[in-house]
Amino acid sequence: MSDFAVLRVEHITKAFGGQPILKGVSLELFPGNLKVLIGPSGGGKSTLLQCINHLIPPDSGQVYLEGERLNPASKQNLRSFRRQVGMIFQDFNLFEHLSALDNVRVALGLVRGFSKAQATERAMAELTRVGLQSRAGHYPAQLSGGQKQRVSVARALAMDPKVMLLDEPTSALDPELIGEVLAVIRDLATLGMPMIMATHQIGFAASLADEFLFMDHGVIVEHGSPADLLAKGSESRTRAFSAKISELTCEMGE
Ligand SMILES: Nc1ncnc2c1ncn2[C@@H]1O[C@H](COP(=O)(O)OP(=O)(O)OP(=O)(O)O)[C@@H](O)[C@H]1O
Ligand SMILES: [Mg+2]
Repeated sequence: MSDFAVLRVEHITKAFGGQPILKGVSLELFPGNLKVLIGPSGGGKSTLLQCINHLIPPDSGQVYLEGERLNPASKQNLRSFRRQVGMIFQDFNLFEHLSALDNVRVALGLVRGFSKAQATERAMAELTRVGLQSRAGHYPAQLSGGQKQRVSVARALAMDPKVMLLDEPTSALDPELIGEVLAVIRDLATLGMPMIMATHQIGFAASLADEFLFMDHGVIVEHGSPADLLAKGSESRTRAFSAKISELTCEMGE
């Protein structure tokens, strides 16, 4: 069943205050796929990612995980879905009053029913995977942005997610910290974790993504392999957008 979609999103719509923000977005994510959402600010990338796990309830549309339809009316079903769909936000979303270890450990006890010893062992394994075993006792305020984001990834991985959704995981980071987070994401992609990631790191994304999804005004207006969309001579929106981003980055002297 290798062609079986891990995640299927069907015709999601969402309006805010009568203004349509998502106009019927559909996509399928297959085992080992990395799909990258790109496009101008306000295009609907974050709204789409949050509609998938119903952090923002869509107005219409369906979401399927391994063929099973998410039923948001069932709290149990929603909780189980969210456990299996790891979400990484731009601003890390860590508990400030908990150490790195406890940030990863807390849900293992509460959600997965692990004993304290089991939770500690698993949490340490995930912190080690993201290179933070020596920072386990540190609180978020004592960690760099890159380290905080890696804790957030460790926390999501501790749930054994079937899919990860990442919303601009590096855009709140100083440039010198971006690489360490991208390295963790690269490892996950190499291990075959199915992921949808919104990012402006086009070069990085192009080196790993199976597909770019270019979103504008609530619609996927263009999709295809990074190589095709970025090819010399291509008149794709993706290529024009990517050229604009690199021009801006050059102007900022980076
Ligand atoms: N809670 C909300 N209430 C009203 N409008 C909203 C809300 N959330 C998002 N929007 C609007 O929806 C549109 C899409 O926003 P969204 O954050 O999904 O875009 P985005 O593609 O993620 O942009 P960016 O690249 O800046 O992150 C924007 O016009 C935004 O103002
Ligand atoms: Mg966004």
